[in-house]
This record gives sequence, C-alpha cells and structure tokens, in this order.
Amino acid sequence: MLNPTTDPSVTTSLAEAIQSLLPALEDFMRFEDQDLAASQYPEWSTSLNEPLPERGRGAETTLRILKDMVIPHGLRTGAPGFAGWVTTMPTVVPVAAAFSASIAGAQRYWLQTFNYLERLALEWLKELLGLPVSYQGTFSSGGSTANLIALAAARQWACEQRGLDPSRDGLETLVKPRLYASDQVHHVVGRAAGVLGLGRSALISLPTDDALRLDVGALRDQLRRDKTDGCTPIAVIASAGTVNTGAIDPIGDILEVCRKEQVWLHVDGAYGGFAILDPEVAPLMHDLVEADSLAVDPHKWLAVPLGCGATFVRDRALLGRALTMEPAEYLEGSASQDETIGSQFDGLGYTFHDFNLEQSARSRGVTVWAALNEIGTEGIRSRVTLHNSFALHLAELVEASPVLELLAPVTLSICCFRYVPTDLQGANGNTETLNNLNREILMRLHREHHHIPSSTKINGQLAIRPCYINPRTTLSDVDGLAEAVERIGKETWAHSAAAD
Ligand SMILES: Cc1ncc(COP(=O)(O)O)c(C=O)c1O
Repeated sequence: MLNPTTDPSVTTSLAEAIQSLLPALEDFMRFEDQDLAASQYPEWSTSLNEPLPERGRGAETTLRILKDMVIPHGLRTGAPGFAGWVTTMPTVVPVAAAFSASIAGAQRYWLQTFNYLERLALEWLKELLGLPVSYQGTFSSGGSTANLIALAAARQWACEQRGLDPSRDGLETLVKPRLYASDQVHHVVGRAAGVLGLGRSALISLPTDDALRLDVGALRDQLRRDKTDGCTPIAVIASAGTVNTGAIDPIGDILEVCRKEQVWLHVDGAYGGFAILDPEVAPLMHDLVEADSLAVDPHKWLAVPLGCGATFVRDRALLGRALTMEPAEYLEGSASQDETIGSQFDGLGYTFHDFNLEQSARSRGVTVWAALNEIGTEGIRSRVTLHNSFALHLAELVEASPVLELLAPVTLSICCFRYVPTDLQGANGNTETLNNLNREILMRLHREHHHIPSSTKINGQLAIRPCYINPRTTLSDVDGLAEAVERIGKETWAHSAAAD
C-alpha cells in the first residue's frame, strides 16, 4: 500500500536530464541518417507499445527511451530537402525560448516576463505586418484556431448589425448565414464555420481566375443574389497565400466589395502573411492592413515551435464580446483588489482568456519574440524573399526543361509542376496516366530522402508541390529537386513502358 510523502517524479536535476538527450537531438538535427522512422517502424513501434506501467519505470529508463528510440525516429521536416505542406522544424533560438517557457513561464498569467512578452510579441507582429496598433492580437495553437477566432469576431459583428448577440444567445434567429471564399481556401475555414454553428455548407465556394485567385465579379454577383434571398453575409475570406499554389486573392478589390456591401473582410495569411515583407510581393498584399481581421501563423514562416498562430481583429471590444468567458470569482477574484502589486500573483498580468478559446495555455509569445529578437524584421524579410526566389528559380528550371511543366503561376514560395515525358506531351497527355506517373515520382522522392515536396491537384492534374519555408533549405536543394524529378521521371516512365 502506497503511503507517499513526496512526489514520485524527478523535480530537480534538469541539466542532467536535458544533457542526456542533447547528443541524440544534435545527431537528429544533422539529418545524416536515412529515414529511420520508416525503415525501423516494426522495431520501434513494438518496443514502444508497452502496457501502462503500474510501477513507473523511472527517470533513467524514460530518458533512455527518449534518447535511443523516440528522438532518432522523429519527424525530419527540418532536413534541408524537406519542402512539403506548409510546415518546417523550428530554428534553434525559438526552441530554446519554448523550453525556457515550459520551465519559467508555465502559465500565461500573472506578473512575469513570459506574460509580458506575449503582449510585446503581438505588438511587434503588428508593426512587422504594418497593422494599426489599435488592432487586438491574440495567440492560439495555429492557423486553424487563428481563423476560427477571427470568424467568431466576424459572426459577432454581422449579428450585432442585426441586433443579435450570438455569443450570448446563440444562433436561433440568425437567417441563412453565409461565408464567401474561393474554391482554393484552406479547409480549416469550412471547419470553423461548422464549429461556429454556421454550418460548413454556409461557406460558399466561389470560382477563381486563371491565376487561381478569387473571382471578384463572382463574389459581387453572389452577394447580390444572396441579399435578394434574405441571407446573412458573415464574412468574405481572402487568402493571402493559398495552400495549394500560394496565389494571393485580389485583396484591394475584395475590400472594396466588402466595404460597399458592409461585409466583414477576413484575410487568411496563415501561410503567406509574412510575405508582405518581400518588396516584390508587397504590392499584392498592402491592402491586407485594412482587413477587419487577419490570421498569420508564426509556426510556419517564422519557424517557431509548432502550436503558434496569431489573430488580429480591428475591434478589441468586439473580439472580447465574441469570446468572453465572463469574469469568474476563482480567477479575477484572486487578483489584488486595490491594484497594489506586492507579489507576482497579485495581478493577472496581460490577460488573454477573453480574446481566445483557451484559459490555461503555454506561453507562445516568447517564441515569436525570440525569433524576431534574433534576426529582426530584416532577417524575416530576407528569409521570405529568399524562399520566394527559390520558387521562381525552380519555375525557371521547369520552363527550361523539355520534360517538366509548370501547372500554376508562382506568387510566393510554392512551385507546382509535373513531369511530362516527351511521348505524353500535347494531345497525347492523359490526365490519369500523368497523375499516376507523378504520384509515383513523388513517392520515390520521399523514399530517396533528399528532396521531399508534397503534392496537390490543380484542375484535376497532380502537381509536385514544394513549398519553401524551411530555413535550412539552400538553392542546391532546389536545383536538386528539379534534377531528381527529371531523373526519377525518366526511370519510372521507362520502367512502366517496359512493363506494358
Ligand atoms: C492558408 C492556410 N490557412 C490555414 C492553415 C491551417 O493552419 P494550421 O495547420 O496551423 O492549423 C494552413 C496550413 O497550412 C494554411 O496554409
């Protein structure tokens, strides 16, 4: 029978524990090994698949498993050739900041440096993006939540215009709510519509132009039709960097429509928001600062540890009304009543819970502060400009190649292309054959470990889709991908022709 007098876990000797893991982490970050997660899957999954221990296995064993089994089989999104989805491994200093926060800033409240930096990082982001200082910012877990928070504000605003308070009373009397976005918008927006009680089918998917940007004429027509039908427009969502191709919707024109029709404009800049710093791209994005709300994702291009998105909303009080938790005795009641601060626990510090979906949360701002403090606006500008230039460079290689085909214009750091063998060019090209061939090339790229893009479909055609946001990628990785696709394409096509 247990009769504990002290906690059974280790609460001291941090340096020893971390130092025991550091060599494995440093090894991992050299990316010299092959993809051990795949090749050794049977071994490590069997070994980790232990029953819940009744008696703990102890600190030493737990750290040893982390060192020998878990870390070496982790996810290699930081490998220089990785360019899949819109994700990467964080850089070192923000990781160190996140680690520090998990020790010394283990909650977002109270009078403490990490809480202070939460607010300062939001102010810095506004300055970086050129947003007015009056906008209310808030950190959350990523692009999904950042968009959800923005659309909660949009819902509140649209309903308040009609004398309703959805956050207090629900949506019972809301008539046919509608959200508008292009057919390229990220699927998290549809989910947000579902979570907010508007319904995924409230999201009207509008066509795009040749460059895969929202067709503003179609938006105008749809709004007019819906007005006649008695619908309630909640928001238009413009993408500042679609996840498929990096296309930037014509934000200025959309803004004009929104102002005329009195509809909320939200910009999803989760991927591309920071590209406003690239002088070549800035003209496409400068109207973004007029949006009613904006989502950006520091855990993408800013390369901070995963779990960090940010929302900015024009009207602080409105965001508060949309997400208020209502004051609670156990929370606000613990703060000093006469505003004297004699202890860090006397005040809640910079409070977030009324602008967010979370009460307790890790300190995210410190990671953003660390990234910006380390390399400054200039560093982020040079990162996004370099990555955008990678995609343009790849597009040039593609256009110069007799067997590669560009499938979408390059706007940001994504380049969508495919391999087309000479005998499948022009009228001989069958979409299904080309899709299968390019899927096979993609799988081989993944398996050969050096160049790892992901894919998407553009008008039904499978595209190999590198997205450059990885700070460890260099130009030689970009050249290497084009060469690898040509080489693997040739081999795969020759192999399938021989098999026929
Ligand atoms: C444009 C866009 N919006 C939203 C998201 C969702 O962000 P997250 O994966 O951080 O939830 C992404 C992710 O790639 C994105 O590219």
